[in-house]
Order: sequence, then structure tokens, then C-alpha cells
Amino acid sequence: MTERGSRNIILLGAPGSGKGTQAARLTERLGVPAVSTGDIFRANIAEGTALGKEAKGYMDRGELVPDAVVIAIALDRIDANDCRNGFLLDGFPRTTEQADALDRHLAAAGRGIDGVLLLDVPTEELVRRISGRRVCRSCGASYHVTDIPPARAGLCDACDGALYARDDDNEETVRNRIEVYNVNTAPLTAYYEERKLLLRIAASGASGPDAVFADILKALRA
Ligand code: AP5
Ligand code: MG
Repeated sequence: MTERGSRNIILLGAPGSGKGTQAARLTERLGVPAVSTGDIFRANIAEGTALGKEAKGYMDRGELVPDAVVIAIALDRIDANDCRNGFLLDGFPRTTEQADALDRHLAAAGRGIDGVLLLDVPTEELVRRISGRRVCRSCGASYHVTDIPPARAGLCDACDGALYARDDDNEETVRNRIEVYNVNTAPLTAYYEERKLLLRIAASGASGPDAVFADILKALRA
């Protein structure tokens, strides 16, 4: 179980469960960087790198990028200097192989995971949320056309950046992403429960992002 002051945290949850939304709040509160493998891939796609070209096909179909690729990228990022006092993992690990590799890598450095936040949201709400999601091209802030609208349509409240809908946010791809989550990633719930690290957070619509954040802080005793 996480103790006050612990900093190596995983955000686990289906597509649209609010991992990115909560990571943005937590990174500010805890003072540790958020590491999103999805954001790393999207940045590489935007820059046209070899990694971006490899990842794009998988992402557009709503499939997982192969373990070997993701593991190398994620572990390398965790070893960066800014993660030495902790990190928030958003979207990694997503398979048992990734979780095992993370465990081994941290253990070899005398480190470990302090808590795994599972954001629990019903499937139909996930589809509705993602279909209405808009993301800021400049700072990555996440909005929803009706639930969490920006003050000015199409523009980010925080930085005036342009808002866009992600390529993989169409309904067909979203349903596949959720299916892939249920098959490959949901087993990690039991994996971390066995290790007494899992913290379940009810993150559905009745509670907006701020209420979910308050529950997360309580669970982390932060
Ligand atoms: P990734 O970018 O990680 O996408 P995802 O897991 O599908 O999750 P999302 O980013 O869609 O949702 P989120 O949980 O961050 O929700 P958000 O906060 O935006 O991965 C994309 C792809 O990259 C994968 O499909 C795969 O191909 C590849 N990939 C990445 N990592 C990989 C890995 N480890 N292994 C293999 N492949 C990998 O919120 C969603 C919406 O809901 C927003 O509109 C938001 O404003 C709204 N919202 C948030 N909270 C609330 C609330 N409490 N109430 C109402 N609305 C809310
Ligand atoms: Mg996200």
C-alpha cells in the first residue's frame, strides 16, 4: 500500500478513463513527471521519426504497439534524471510482459512501484467521453465538447492552443481499444492486487475530474 510521500505511481484504466486528465493534476501536486507512452508515440508521429512510423499503424487500428518497442522506450524514459524522485506512468504497463519488465528494471535499481491507481469507468461512458474529447495541440490539455468545454470553442483555456480530435478517437477504433484493454490490460488489476498495490478509484461521470482527483489524493494519502 502507498505511504505518504511515495512517488512511483501507475495510472491504470481503460481508454477514456481519465488517466491523462488526472496525470496532469497529479504531476503538479506531487512534483514528479507524468510519463505517457501514448504521448511519446504521438510526439514521434508528429515529428515523423522511425518510431512514430512504426507505432502509427498499431495506434490507428487501436492495437497495442509491440511489447519490445514499448518496454525499451518506457524504461529509458524512467531512467531519465527528472524521474529520479518519482514518476507517474500513464498508459504503461499494458500487458503482463510490460509489468514484469518494469518490476525487474526497478528492482535492479533498488526501486519499486508504490501504488497503482485503477480508474474505474463503465464502457458506454468511455465511448461517449472519447467521442467528445478534444486535446490541445500545444500543451496536451484534455477537454470534452459538452462535459468539459473550453471557455472559447476550439481554443485551450491554459495556453490558447488549437484543440483537435485524435486520429484514434473514432467510434470503431475506440471499441477496439476497449476490447484490447479488456483482453490484455485488465489482467493487470489482479497482478497488482496480489502485490497489494492496487487502489480502486470510482471515476465515472457522476464525479467530475476534480472529485476524482480528491479521491485519488485520499487514496494516496498525498
Ligand atoms: P493512450 O494515449 O495511452 O490512450 P488510451 O489508453 O486509449 O487512453 P486515452 O488517452 O484515450 O484516455 P485517458 O484515460 O488518458 O483519458 P482522458 O484523461 O484523455 O494510447 C494510445 C495508443 O498508443 C494505444 O491504443 C496503443 O496503440 C499505443 N500505446 C500506448 N501505450 C502503450 C503500451 N504501454 N503498450 C502498447 N501500446 C501502447 O479523458 C478522456 C475524456 O474524458 C476527455 O475528454 C476528458 O476531458 C474526459 N474526462 C476525464 N475525466 C472525466 C470525468 N471524471 N468525468 C467526465 N469526463 C471526464
Ligand atoms: Mg491519455
